[in-house]
Amino acid sequence: MAGVIEIKAADLNAQSFIEKKAKEIAELVGDGEAINALSGGVDSSAVTMIGHKALGSKLKTYFIDNGLMRKDEPQQIVSLFKKFGVEVKVINAQEDFFNALKGITDPEKKREAITQTFYKDIFGKLVKESGAKYLLQGTILTDIDETVAGIKRQHNVFEQLGIDPQEAFGYEIIEPMVQLRKDGARKVAEALGLPKSLFNRMPFPGPALSARVIGEATPKRIETARISTQVIEEELASSGAFQYMAILHQDKVTGMRDGKRDFGLQIEIRCWDSIDARTATPTRLPFDTLDKVAKRIVAEVPGVVSVTYNITTKPPSTMEAI
Ligand code: XMP
Repeated sequence: MAGVIEIKAADLNAQSFIEKKAKEIAELVGDGEAINALSGGVDSSAVTMIGHKALGSKLKTYFIDNGLMRKDEPQQIVSLFKKFGVEVKVINAQEDFFNALKGITDPEKKREAITQTFYKDIFGKLVKESGAKYLLQGTILTDIDETVAGIKRQHNVFEQLGIDPQEAFGYEIIEPMVQLRKDGARKVAEALGLPKSLFNRMPFPGPALSARVIGEATPKRIETARISTQVIEEELASSGAFQYMAILHQDKVTGMRDGKRDFGLQIEIRCWDSIDARTATPTRLPFDTLDKVAKRIVAEVPGVVSVTYNITTKPPSTMEAI
């Protein structure tokens, strides 16, 4: 793709990459200020650390609580980064996101609603208030590939779609990690001194749990996906898989509870083996593990009567459902 030269993880010297990127950011931002959004994933965590190395207190870091994150995520991220001397301000934007998602069922329209709310409404406002001219973010090459290929629009890709962030949102975007894929991003995060729990953290999509709810992402449906995700993450933590998740389906199915018909919800478990998320195969989980997850989900997640396991490869599947 135009202008971006891939750095393969095997060829990456993480220390010199960090020094080079920090220098570039410092030169670009100069005396000005920059802001960045930390989601707590590998990419945005690495960018946050490089940005603070380059800019110190001239970089303001925010966690946007969009109401679509996993259980306790905002608090965990804030306390972890405090240990690294990075103050993270949480912005409660739950209402903005749920309002934007109201009534939308089309996958691309959901992604677009999230993009607009995040970049235009929330960050547009933060940039104006802070006087910052730059937004620093952790886009990696795979995000761009899939957007350009028209597979799905990743929430953080603009230039390659012909969108000028300055024109559209009123600020410039700096993307220090754009030549890397996930394995390279992990190497950089490790070299920055971030803990293993973070640099090995499994990927989580920008549109968060709304990418895992087929149909409308209401607060109630997101909560169903959230509790199911929690169970799956607990049970599959030792699976060694690249990524695992719960998908809430739109269709209901007939089940039974207490001897009576219960027309209820379906949760699909997805668990992927992958190196860089470009292709993936379903993990051959032991049936006993699947059995345990299914039993917990129907017992712990209100309204769920059916649990399935996805056995399709990517392609033709994608990893997230939306
Ligand atoms: P798919 O579903 O496209 O996912 O096979 C491939 C990898 O990308 C993650 N993903 C995203 N990451 N913004 C991101 O930063 C997004 O909009 C997005 N959508 C998917 C997904 O979790 C998987 O690791």
